[in-house]
Amino acid sequence: MKKFLAVLVLSAVSSLMAADGMAIYNGKCKSCHGDNASKPALNKSQVIKGWDEAKIIASINGYKNGQGGPMKATMLGIVKPMSDEDVKAVAATIAAFK
Ligand code: HEC
Repeated sequence: MKKFLAVLVLSAVSSLMAADGMAIYNGKCKSCHGDNASKPALNKSQVIKGWDEAKIIASINGYKNGQGGPMKATMLGIVKPMSDEDVKAVAATIAAFK
């Protein structure tokens, strides 16, 4: 019974929270930023786990606008095709990582 409830709660939570964001993270970000965004991407970026949603969105939009650090071209290629909704969804997902 307990287990059944836990499954119910989990599936309710994941359908409420940006499910797309998780798919985007796993598909487009995880290979460099690691599980739960806990790694410096390519050993170069800051660890973005713990960043809030607004900070992540601002950073991604910065890359879209040609700002960033020495490896900004890497990020530009990834975030350029993403819509504002994609960016918001993935930022919310990352900000929620524990
Ligand atoms: C090919 C590897 C790679 C992938 C895939 C990748 N990143 Fe990055 N990311 C980097 C690198 C390298 C940097 C540091 C760039 C720089 O010099 O500014 C970075 C920086 C960042 C930063 C800013 C951190 C800082 O150091 O200022 C954010 C936020 C970020 N990435 C989010 C994402 C998100 C969200 C995705 C998926 C949509 C993603 N990244 C996919 C390599 C990657």
